[in-house]
Amino acid sequence: MPQLAYVDGRMVPLRDAMIHVEDRGLQFADSLYEVCAILNGRLLDWPGHLARLRRGLAALFIDFPMSDAALGIVARRLLAVNGQREGLLYLQLTRGSARRDHGFPTTPSPSLIMTVRRFDFAQRVRQQATGVSVVTVNDMRWRRVDLKTTGLLANVLAKQDARAAGAFEAWLVAEDGTLREGSSTNAWIVKDGRLLTHPLSESILPGIARSALIDLARGAQIAVDERPFSLAEALAADEALLTSTTAPLLPVVRIDGQAIGTGTPGPVAARLAPLVWDEIERQTGWRA
Ligand SMILES: Cc1ncc(COP(=O)(O)O)c(C=O)c1O
Repeated sequence: MPQLAYVDGRMVPLRDAMIHVEDRGLQFADSLYEVCAILNGRLLDWPGHLARLRRGLAALFIDFPMSDAALGIVARRLLAVNGQREGLLYLQLTRGSARRDHGFPTTPSPSLIMTVRRFDFAQRVRQQATGVSVVTVNDMRWRRVDLKTTGLLANVLAKQDARAAGAFEAWLVAEDGTLREGSSTNAWIVKDGRLLTHPLSESILPGIARSALIDLARGAQIAVDERPFSLAEALAADEALLTSTTAPLLPVVRIDGQAIGTGTPGPVAARLAPLVWDEIERQTGWRA
């Protein structure tokens, strides 16, 4: 049975899944996407992903006729037909195809594509024991990175810098020295037992895993400050962490080659990690 993708109302073999050459997602990155974890055949935090997508659609004035319920049915059907129990759902919604012109088409017809692929979440549990390293790069992105658009070239180049340096992630630093987030993850530090992460604004993505960790930490009486912090503060922090759908919680033990704290995963990360995986188990029944 070949892998199937969803393209505008049809389930088609992945190798035949095509969009038009004049699709505005391709030509202008005029499109939004979501990546959602599939664990034990269930979608993690699906309502949060839908809400972020809806907010993006409103901000970009994309009028998409499918209801949340219908999107959920399609997504779950795609998992089922592919027998995908542990992996990632990728969803992309574009303004559709039209003769190339920067202005919106007069009668846009948005396109929706979804794919699934396998992803090994248990490796993230194992990586918690050692932690990961990050490098820093200048944040070269546009000013509305709170919208999850496919305009990811600056993120792509940043991630490639990380790969070239043998690091897991690149952290993006603004001109004033503020550390914003990673190329595909949110960034955190721990100082004197308090968690710090950049506040929601137009200059970071409102990560679903970020929001989950804030709730879990506060529920466990760990103070969370949503305030900007600098690279200098991060280098002097007791611990650092990153979060995302594909890395629900990973300790960061090195930034630009410099050890953070003891250079090993710290006690706050060790307290938070089981809370994160317990919440994942509560929602999906998945256990590493
Ligand atoms: C720039 C950026 N920040 C943060 C995240 C983490 O978001 P989430 O927790 O919703 O996966 C992502 C995810 O792709 C991202 O691209």
